[in-house]
Amino acid sequence: MGRVTKAVFPVAGMGTRFLPATKASPKEMMPIVDKPLIQYAVEEAVAAGMTEMIFVTGRNKRAIEDHFDTAYELETELKQRDNQEMLQMIRGIIPRRVSCVYIRQPKALGLGHAILCARRVVGDDPFAVVLADDLIDGEPSALQQMAAVFKKRSTSIVAVTNVPRKETRQYGIVKIDPGSAAPHRITGIVEKPAPGAAPSTLGVVGRYILTSRIFHHLLRVRPGAGGEIQLTDGIAALIREEDVLAYEFAGTRYDCGSKLGYLKANLAYALKHPEVANDLCNYLKNMDWRHPR
Ligand code: G1P
Repeated sequence: MGRVTKAVFPVAGMGTRFLPATKASPKEMMPIVDKPLIQYAVEEAVAAGMTEMIFVTGRNKRAIEDHFDTAYELETELKQRDNQEMLQMIRGIIPRRVSCVYIRQPKALGLGHAILCARRVVGDDPFAVVLADDLIDGEPSALQQMAAVFKKRSTSIVAVTNVPRKETRQYGIVKIDPGSAAPHRITGIVEKPAPGAAPSTLGVVGRYILTSRIFHHLLRVRPGAGGEIQLTDGIAALIREEDVLAYEFAGTRYDCGSKLGYLKANLAYALKHPEVANDLCNYLKNMDWRHPR
């Protein structure tokens, strides 16, 4: 069971932190330079060897389905203009061997509930969970690194990173067994604890590889933090029966669920983008950034 071929993308969230931008369009479609967040997430899963993309969607999320579908009118237009470069680019968004499945989450009952909605499609296979608003710049990608660990260990893995103690309320926080070899075994996990109550400062970021046993536990967890069915609480139950590893990935993570993180990601990716990097760099050098207008 060492290979992971399915990736679940919970994309039903409302994106209230980006209103009004997200009033009628999904937050996952917000671009970092010229590519929507959800496409970075899918590309990461594809690069990690996954071939079945499972989106758990909700109201107002049609744009995501359209993005990964054929755009006939656009293709015809580009063909007429003989714009081969753009044509290849939009045709290559999803490689041929990769399939997409869309499941509707009828109510926003939490991340754990969203994952549970994918249960029938995932079946008994291990699967990845990718939260598109955690953008991770890494080579190899965070999910590739985790898939390599899963190949050896065949047990659930959660990506973690050190976070400032004052921010523990934004994350699932894990406690690890320091005596175990890295990646360390998780001995406790709690959703969004207050800084004083957090068992450590190792925060969960949006990459998981889970065995299908998680469903057994998610079916039983009660609403937790924020009154929602939390994936964290499912994992807290899972660690009692199998090893769950905390994996400190190599790479830079941008919290694109926050305005500041989103802006930082745009800057970092723009400064690597061949079309705009030089000009942006010069613009920033000459900009009077000390005086916010
Ligand atoms: C979710 C998880 C949380 C995790 C975080 C990572 O929270 O519930 O455990 O640390 O993603 O981004 P959310 O940010 O959706 O509130």
